[in-house]
Amino acid sequence: MIMSRLWSSSLVTSKIIFLSYVFLILISHSDTVDRSKFKTCDQSGFCKRQRNVKEGSATYEADLSQGTVSTSSVSIPVINKGNGIPFVLEVFLLEGLKFRVKLNEAKPLRPRYEVEHALLSNMREGKLEVKKAADHWALIADTNNEARVYSTPLRIEFYSGGEKVTVINGRQMLKFEHLRKKPDVNDEPNDENAANEEGKEEPEPSMWEESFGGHQDSKPRGPESVGVDIDFPFTQHLYGLPEHADSFLIKDTKGGDPYRLYNLDVFEYEVNNGMALYASVPYIMAHSPKNTVGLLWLNAAETWVDFDVGGGSNLVDSIVNLVGGGASDEKVGRTRWMSESGIIDIFVFMGPKPTDVMRQFGEVAGTAPLPQMWAIASQQCRWNYNDEEDVRQVDEGFDSHDMPYDSIWLDIEHTDGKKYFTWDSHKFGHPVEMIQNITAKGRKMVTIIDPHIKRESGYFVHEDALRDDLYVKDKTGKVYEGWCWPGAASYLDFFDPKVREYWSSRFRLENYPSTVDLYTWNDMNEPSVFNGPEVTMPKDLIHYGDWEHRDVHNLYGLLMVKATYDGQMLRSENQLRPFILTRAAYVGSHRYTSIWTGDNTAEWSHLKISIPMCLSLGIAGFAHCGADIGGFFHNPEPELILRWYQAAMFQPFVRNHAHIETKRREPWLFGDHNTALIRSAIRKRYALLPYWYTLFHQAEMEGIPPMRPIWMLFPDDVKTYNIEGQHLIGNALMVAPVLEKGASKVSVYLPGVIWYDFYNYVAYQSGYHTIPVTEDSIPVFQRGGTIIPTKQRIRRASTLMKRDPFTLFVALDENNEARGRLYIDDGQSFGYRNGKFLEVEFTFKDNKLQSRVVNPGSYATTEWVERVVILGWRNRPASITVSSKSVGTSKLEFEGTHPLVIRKPRTLITEDWEIILS
Ligand code: NOJ
Repeated sequence: MIMSRLWSSSLVTSKIIFLSYVFLILISHSDTVDRSKFKTCDQSGFCKRQRNVKEGSATYEADLSQGTVSTSSVSIPVINKGNGIPFVLEVFLLEGLKFRVKLNEAKPLRPRYEVEHALLSNMREGKLEVKKAADHWALIADTNNEARVYSTPLRIEFYSGGEKVTVINGRQMLKFEHLRKKPDVNDEPNDENAANEEGKEEPEPSMWEESFGGHQDSKPRGPESVGVDIDFPFTQHLYGLPEHADSFLIKDTKGGDPYRLYNLDVFEYEVNNGMALYASVPYIMAHSPKNTVGLLWLNAAETWVDFDVGGGSNLVDSIVNLVGGGASDEKVGRTRWMSESGIIDIFVFMGPKPTDVMRQFGEVAGTAPLPQMWAIASQQCRWNYNDEEDVRQVDEGFDSHDMPYDSIWLDIEHTDGKKYFTWDSHKFGHPVEMIQNITAKGRKMVTIIDPHIKRESGYFVHEDALRDDLYVKDKTGKVYEGWCWPGAASYLDFFDPKVREYWSSRFRLENYPSTVDLYTWNDMNEPSVFNGPEVTMPKDLIHYGDWEHRDVHNLYGLLMVKATYDGQMLRSENQLRPFILTRAAYVGSHRYTSIWTGDNTAEWSHLKISIPMCLSLGIAGFAHCGADIGGFFHNPEPELILRWYQAAMFQPFVRNHAHIETKRREPWLFGDHNTALIRSAIRKRYALLPYWYTLFHQAEMEGIPPMRPIWMLFPDDVKTYNIEGQHLIGNALMVAPVLEKGASKVSVYLPGVIWYDFYNYVAYQSGYHTIPVTEDSIPVFQRGGTIIPTKQRIRRASTLMKRDPFTLFVALDENNEARGRLYIDDGQSFGYRNGKFLEVEFTFKDNKLQSRVVNPGSYATTEWVERVVILGWRNRPASITVSSKSVGTSKLEFEGTHPLVIRKPRTLITEDWEIILS
């Protein structure tokens, strides 16, 4: 209280503190996060209360006799016998084998927050058959899948193929703090105000007020946390729960803190721990050879999750790396989810295979839309490019060093005093011409737009916001004021539909001097508040609808990007696919935005962690994920940036970015030798763009991300379960980048049957391999049985390669067969949603390569096939002929056997054709 008065009363003090913060950011060379700024579970009142819950302590019972049944759901009264508080349990079946379980108070003192905006609004209901037994109801989805609700004690079990895969409240650790009136100081503790309804403990001081780091949380609405145990009796292999700078395989939290989900701007975050970061997606996948399930905990408040999955605590850093080991005999994966407010709302995706779960998640949370082609190529950013001349020189630098790139980005310094939607008139006085110079070369520009609005009279956004009541309020109803890059700032309340509409309108061309080819980077949207508790908003702020910030914190960034997305649609009059990069995210943000892993550091450990971080985000829907190449803080040594480039070119989102205080980092600044090596890595990305693009289309259609854990393709192979340093791109490529300084070899596990080094064609049988590496090596393997479309004429931007011919890489399996796909469209518009696309299927069988247009669409193109490279061919063929409508039947030139290179079939990609080897 005293502190907050000081903040508002003393502008001078605030400014000094703000400047010291900025100064600290600029000069700090400490390598570790300041943990004292962020809560541990013990310092978070509700987490501590929830974590004190003992197994077997919950006293909730379902009254099946009073339950009701509808076609797709059941509704059953539940009572907490300990204190008599009534609840309603609802279990829904959604089409496609998804259960939803909701538990809420039957008569709450006031409504409890239920998450909005995160999920699709058109989820389809399933058809449920309910079988009633004395002690439970069986909710049957189909012959293989059912849920059972047990009455005494309350417990919900899920079965897939006869195996019990998930249990909610099986250990009776449910604790649902009902809303209550604040007790008078003279009141005796009673059932209505007890800290723990079950145990009738003394009320804890943290229930009605708590403070941390000099910030007081007034908590006028009192305790309202929810927590329950959710177990997976079939496996301890649990994955996901982004965003944490931690392994993909979730670690045990016994003896340490739970994993935390609370969108925060964490300065110089460390790797290998479960501290909260910028994004929060309360979603995990549980996997075994027989079954895979997904679990979504739909709650947007601060959330902590405990895991009992064998092994040590996540604080005792036992980084699970590369291959083998780790799995214990114990089968049960135990978890406990704890959120500060809201209701219990759980989705169980029944699988049974990983790709089924991905589809089921996508049917609920949506899928990531196909990006424009340029957005999946290579991007160049820096805090900051100084002025128009700097932009011109960097752009030209790429040309003179013969390095392709597709967009240049401007950070906060391009604005007039950190006022977004403006340009610094001295440094960036001719934005339209500057952008046109970039776009004339087939490239794009991206500018940063943050959510904090400078409180400066005359700044149109601020004036509009004050006049039209667009800002978030403090608990007294006054406009909230915090500190961020511009100094004093207020924050738009994106929960208000009129604010979102206003924000979208700011992107209209007439409101933002620029051109249509300008895209957006939404940063600091956790939101970051330099002088706020844990560098974010106080929880007792009030949003539209009278919700406390506490209830909706993790949704703030989602609503911002949603409004930005709509703004970009307005800007191009619905013609161009938007591109947004966000730092903060929640469930469903991926429908609007790409994501990066924030302010990492130029260290090998940060290069390594970029893989599990993007795998976790990937299974949670974020198809387009990447990390700052080279590490945001500090200066990477040449070897590190080289290896980082090599790894990043095989990750979905590719961007070189660095802190304002770092040395310049354009890719030609590390000596001629490294320039050549980095060029070679970037060119590899451009060659594979047709394959990536096909995969991004699949991500939109099926919810499967391009960057995949190996077990997604080899669900039965337990040796893949603990692998953190390798990943798949689609189903055809395995990537095992060099992640260690001075490495001369890389250990790789190749499941399945046969793989080929994608660059030197060496064949490998399945198993563990040690691959020797040189500076130029990026260990990438094509799986036998696949066909990959590439383009080998690398130009200065992806957009300029649009009409270029394809080279197909055919990797034969043990039966001399292979198959693959290609998806193409105009690379930028929404035409593909109206049939303007083409899908082609390639098959190699009986010595014949066939191309069939499986989905003709109406996309017209002159792209053709200029080369076919066959891996795994054994004898030199006598002759090779091609036939198609456009080329007739003719003999082709070829050379080699492995690889067998077939030259210039010249067939159009839009027609059916075949090549016969005889
Ligand atoms: C924080 C972002 O994470 C970083 O990438 C950016 O450069 C700075 N904000 C300045 O905008």
